[in-house]
Amino acid sequence: MPLLEIHNLRKRYGAIEALKGISLSVERGEFFGLLGPNGAGKSTTINILLGLILPDSGTIRIFGRDFATDQVAIRRRMNVAAAFTSLNGVLTVRENLKVYGHIYGVSKLDAKIDELLERFEITELANRKLQYLSSGQHTRVTLCKGLINDPELLLLDECTLGLDPDIAEKTRRALKEFQREKQTTILFTSHNMYEVEELCGRIAFLNKGEILRVDTAERIKHLIPQHVVEIRVRPGADLKAARQWNGCCGEISDGRTLRFVLDRPHEQLDALLRHMTQAGVYITDVQILRPTLEEVFIKVARGEL
Ligand SMILES: Nc1ncnc2c1ncn2[C@@H]1O[C@H](COP(=O)(O)OP(=O)(O)O)[C@@H](O)[C@H]1O
Ligand SMILES: [Mg+2]
Repeated sequence: MPLLEIHNLRKRYGAIEALKGISLSVERGEFFGLLGPNGAGKSTTINILLGLILPDSGTIRIFGRDFATDQVAIRRRMNVAAAFTSLNGVLTVRENLKVYGHIYGVSKLDAKIDELLERFEITELANRKLQYLSSGQHTRVTLCKGLINDPELLLLDECTLGLDPDIAEKTRRALKEFQREKQTTILFTSHNMYEVEELCGRIAFLNKGEILRVDTAERIKHLIPQHVVEIRVRPGADLKAARQWNGCCGEISDGRTLRFVLDRPHEQLDALLRHMTQAGVYITDVQILRPTLEEVFIKVARGEL
């Protein structure tokens, strides 16, 4: 039985159809990504799952229970961290986390808070007031808040916004570790393709209120089979023969880089490189450019895939 099941969820704000009947199902222990540009409907989905807004229609089951009728019991086993989660500015970090710990009835709360602060490397901020924190520090406190009750289902809505690359990397690592240890099911939203690819097992592409595709990043990237190969050769080489390969003509840039598009890269790369050597050029560098999640997303959104 899936831990989270959404069926045909719709939400309209006046003329805007924020969700056009989305369905998805997430298994226990999955790190599931909801990926889409601004306005795709990610936050609307999360806010419905939090009971903050009501959908127009559709059903949600979490932990096998109907969200519409069992919301209070379900929500005790969930939590959320979002970029704009408002914590209390005049309270310290520890005090803020205590408030949430009490709401969720967490036992051994001080020890739990220490453990979380350590995980996100913000132990030294424990007694600092929230209003004096940088946005990156605030974000990490928000994540501690989200994990305070060891939720079975954690909703993360753009929760890494405002982190510099170094802290973002550490934060992702801490999140992954927590998830692995506790087998938390995570629904993670972001418009950052790289981040989603690194963290999430399966990804749902969301665009204009519709789910376009659900799969692993690897399989989604295979929707574009072609790889581009750029071969750099020693300057001054005659590229006339080298560029003719397999019935096509490689593109030349800066006089010494040849560019080929391979439909079956794993089968063709070796032959291509041998052809280059036979054509008398000396290879100094080879780059293989695999399709990125972003390229696939754009094509899917434009209906080209
Ligand atoms: N309270 C609201 N009132 C009117 N329109 C809204 C409201 N909340 C969201 N929207 C609109 O619904 C669409 C989806 O928004 P949202 O779920 O916030 O997208 P995302 O989180 O993917 O950026 C957007 O077009 C947004 O402008
Ligand atoms: Mg959003």
